[in-house]
Amino acid sequence: DKGGWSSFMAKEVSEEPEAVANTVRGRIHDGRIRVPELDGLDDLFRDIDRVVILACGTAYYSGLVGKYAIEKWARIPVDVELAHEFRYRDPILSPSTLVVSISQSGETMDTLMAVKEAARLGAKTLSICNTQGATIPRESDAIVYTHAGPEVAVASTKAFVAQITALYLLALHVGDVRGTLADDVAIEAVAQLEALPDKIQWILDNEQERIEQLARWMADTRSVLFLGRHVGFPIALEGALKLKEISYIHAEGFAAGELKHGPIALIEPGQPVFVVVPSPRGSITMHQKVVSNIEEIRARGARVIAIAEQGDSAVLPSADEVLRIPLASPLFEPLLAVVPLHIFAMGLATAKGLDVDQPRNLAKSVTVE
Ligand code: M6R
Repeated sequence: DKGGWSSFMAKEVSEEPEAVANTVRGRIHDGRIRVPELDGLDDLFRDIDRVVILACGTAYYSGLVGKYAIEKWARIPVDVELAHEFRYRDPILSPSTLVVSISQSGETMDTLMAVKEAARLGAKTLSICNTQGATIPRESDAIVYTHAGPEVAVASTKAFVAQITALYLLALHVGDVRGTLADDVAIEAVAQLEALPDKIQWILDNEQERIEQLARWMADTRSVLFLGRHVGFPIALEGALKLKEISYIHAEGFAAGELKHGPIALIEPGQPVFVVVPSPRGSITMHQKVVSNIEEIRARGARVIAIAEQGDSAVLPSADEVLRIPLASPLFEPLLAVVPLHIFAMGLATAKGLDVDQPRNLAKSVTVE
């Protein structure tokens, strides 16, 4: 039931605030993150020396974001791999490797086979999944469910924000167990998580219409590029995938720092480029670097659409459009910056008269390898 929305995707994007709130619910105890499903695994979390995240598509991008949080808060090295690439290259794992799979459906065959292979090689497996009782969680040693609610549209949206949220909960839980998480950092992270739903709602309430109008103006666009840095890089990849999937437009996401190593050659007058701008309150150097990327591509004629926090005026002189997101600590920005990109992809596909819920050639759950 679309509940009055024009599509399941529109409904599911509108549910992004709840997807985060419901995933956090019940997992804060005495002001700290404690995921009850992980009780009893303290020894495991103390013993591991490596995390390998396995997933496909959008779930893989959430894993890329999760790497930053796990490394920062739990101080464990993390590799993030496409499940189908991992499975067929004789991977090296040991009992001190924790393999974390991420899957909305819990039925993706590529991910399932990779998890089975990891277990066969002796690794412990933990599943982040949105579907109760699905095959991948059943095959795993531990489960952290995302509580995004059923996702029907082929393009994954609310599950993506819930996956990042669950990865952050895992990182904070494990960081606490390992003693790598300072008290002030833990308290701040809880406050940030609790504030996210309202901030996402702010974007939906205040920027959605403008983004949809922008999408209508861009309905004839043939190619869109997305740039991001640090946690903004996987968001650029996600923005590009969503656009390819439902509006059939060529789209590529790049790490902003890669520009001059190749992609800048693509810039010609009129080329639309979305740039996820990191907050200057995180790293001023990184912020300046991304602002100068904007200047570089603008000088070559790109049409720049910046996604930047409220009050960041450094982007104003060179961006053609600025889509605003509320202030958040740097690691929490991806959960906000992705929202305009989901709205944009949906708006553009709608402007082209396409079925956003059932894009051509795609299935919601890919149950063949
Ligand atoms: O169900 P899963 O999370 O395992 O699915 C993984 C991908 O197939 C999925 O995220 C796909 O990339 C989406 N259609 C992206 O919107």
